[in-house]
Amino acid sequence: MKGVILGGGFGTRLYPLTKVTNKHLLPVYNKPMICYPIETLLKMGITEILIVTGIEFAGDFLRLLGHGEEFIADLNKWNNTQYPVVQFHYAVQKGAGGIADALRLAELFAGKDSVAVILGDNIFEDNFKNEMTKHENGAMIFIKEVKDNRRFGVPIFDAETKRIVGIEEKPTKPKSSYAVTGLYIYDHRVFDIIRTLKPSVRGELEITDVNNWYVKNGSMNCAIVNGFWTDAGTIETLHSASALVKEKESKK
Ligand code: DAU
Repeated sequence: MKGVILGGGFGTRLYPLTKVTNKHLLPVYNKPMICYPIETLLKMGITEILIVTGIEFAGDFLRLLGHGEEFIADLNKWNNTQYPVVQFHYAVQKGAGGIADALRLAELFAGKDSVAVILGDNIFEDNFKNEMTKHENGAMIFIKEVKDNRRFGVPIFDAETKRIVGIEEKPTKPKSSYAVTGLYIYDHRVFDIIRTLKPSVRGELEITDVNNWYVKNGSMNCAIVNGFWTDAGTIETLHSASALVKEKESKK
């Protein structure tokens, strides 16, 4: 399985912090934000990672991450870990046409492989290696019960079977207390599905529309996130993400 980190978009919710840099390079406690989604993929055993970002700060990502060898050696030093060397690849998203628009750029990189896709502002505590090993085909989403899920994709469950029957993006009246987090596993059909999408009312190709295709097709699997999870895409969550990481670090 290959890994894809989506680090595009304009980071408008973090303005003015994002006036002169990309959101995913901002610090979360003691490391640039993008280090956390990278580590989530490393823990899954992924060694080929495509980073998708906008043109403006693409050079900064290259300077931080390079081809991978030196960066992983540094990361292992900072963390006292032993991740194997990975290779980074890069793609440039034109504009900010949505998460599915950014994922579209991973088609050649993925080939016939499945992809683990993670949003560059999502920070997870868990190790998802077992879930990844179970994946054969179709898709998998990772959900977590949260207090206010109106900011997220929200799954709807069938009352009897408890299976997911649909996902609503940022509903005003959520039909469950769960949020769909920003980690997804897709088989290679995902790129054909993206080609069929139309922009939503906010003008973006929505990842929730991709997920609903797999739900309707009967090939969506779902796993629960047990450890902490947060996005770091707003001033509030950028701050709380640092606090969560700090707390975890202090327990080491
Ligand atoms: O954090 C999980 C949530 O992420 C999900 O529950 C939602 O279903 C999903 O739509 C998404 O919601 P957000 O509104 O929080 O997504 P946002 O626009 O903040 O984008 C999240 C990341 O995706 C961002 O850090 C970089 C990447 N992205 C986003 C856009 C719009 C791109 O790479 N390109 C883009 O054009």
